[in-house]
Amino acid sequence: MPAQPARRGRLVTSIADLKALHQRRAPKMFFDYCESGSWTEQTFRENTSDFERLRFRQRVAVDISGRSLASTMLGEPVAMPVALAPVGSLGMQAADGEIKAARAAARFGVPYTLSTMSICSIEDVAEHSPTPFWFQLYVMQDTGFVDEIIERARAAKCSALVLTLDLQILGQRHKDLKNGLTAPPRPTPAVLLDLATKWRWVWGMAGTKRRTFRNIVGHAKDVGDVSSLMAWTAEQFDPRLDWAKVERIRAKWGGKFVLKGILDAEDARLAVKAGADAIVVSNHGGRQLDGALSSIRSLPAIVRAVKGETEIWLDSGIRSGQDVLKALAMGADATMIGRAYVYGLGALGEAGVTRALEVLAREMDITMALCGRRRIQDMTRDVLLVPRDFEGDWAAQT
Ligand SMILES: Cc1cc2nc3c(=O)[nH]c(=O)nc-3n(C[C@H](O)[C@H](O)[C@H](O)COP(=O)(O)O)c2cc1C
Repeated sequence: MPAQPARRGRLVTSIADLKALHQRRAPKMFFDYCESGSWTEQTFRENTSDFERLRFRQRVAVDISGRSLASTMLGEPVAMPVALAPVGSLGMQAADGEIKAARAAARFGVPYTLSTMSICSIEDVAEHSPTPFWFQLYVMQDTGFVDEIIERARAAKCSALVLTLDLQILGQRHKDLKNGLTAPPRPTPAVLLDLATKWRWVWGMAGTKRRTFRNIVGHAKDVGDVSSLMAWTAEQFDPRLDWAKVERIRAKWGGKFVLKGILDAEDARLAVKAGADAIVVSNHGGRQLDGALSSIRSLPAIVRAVKGETEIWLDSGIRSGQDVLKALAMGADATMIGRAYVYGLGALGEAGVTRALEVLAREMDITMALCGRRRIQDMTRDVLLVPRDFEGDWAAQT
């Protein structure tokens, strides 16, 4: 997988390159929506900086020929254990963004998860994705709508339901309020001025009819202002979601079931009891409870609690193939990425998502080799150097 020029000689060699291009090409309001954490952004920052505290052991004079990143998620083969996490409003980062991301993932051989709060509908993505995708559910107060969207996901042959548990109420991101985030953007003077420099984005949007939350508009009854994600969440999301409701949804779905947003060992045990085929150790990319521990720091306690009883996946903070390997070595069975592929989409559309996946795969392959391992399953705890205080000596009452 040689590094490829992205366009007219621009060489994209890292996720950071894609991020810089995303910032230049997407409207400010949507780049900021992607690149924010809640309140002080402490958890958002520590999601990435805590990965940096882990180091690899360099090993030499080992046969490293014939390497493989192949693995499985939910029993299905994957080119590497990295799924695309659900990301709301993706179709605002680039026109038809969800379709582009789903296609890039399918062609690369990794799973794609479509968010409830997507611009392209389940049906739009099903029509264009060459392979089945996963559907992420947010639980609304309107049970009829929840049941109907589960049926729609089933009809679209989605191969897993990912239920997100860490967003019954929305964490506050200052920039979204200050930017007046909506989809599509309202044509204020500041927005028009910004769009004047984002001609690629404007051109793309002019060529698609998919510019609102199409999973919701035309499906939910008596919908209020759907253009504002914040207003919709406050009005419609179910603050009464509990484990009994989780079990109801699992029974209603009946297929592969993933619980996303687990950060605590006790919740991990409850998730296993609720029948999760996989859990995602996640703090929503630092967008919800500011001051929560980073995902990678939360992982060891969860691994001790439920390893082997369900698949343990991790997201939040992954910006390189090395981060993926660190998560696996710390005990995760697989990972999900959010911003790492959103940057690619905002930078270069479908080709950018592919590029993001290629960058991660190349980083994983070379790192694995330099650690003296040939198979991704061999990236076990002993390839890492972990600071003694990594988990922290917290005085939590458990
Ligand atoms: C812009 C953005 C929108 C998101 N929207 C959703 C969503 O609709 N549903 C969901 O379950 N998680 C959502 N997430 C969280 C991601 O699924 C994932 O947990 C997070 O991005 C992982 O952190 P990372 O971005 O550091 O990789 C969103 C994340 C971002 C950055």
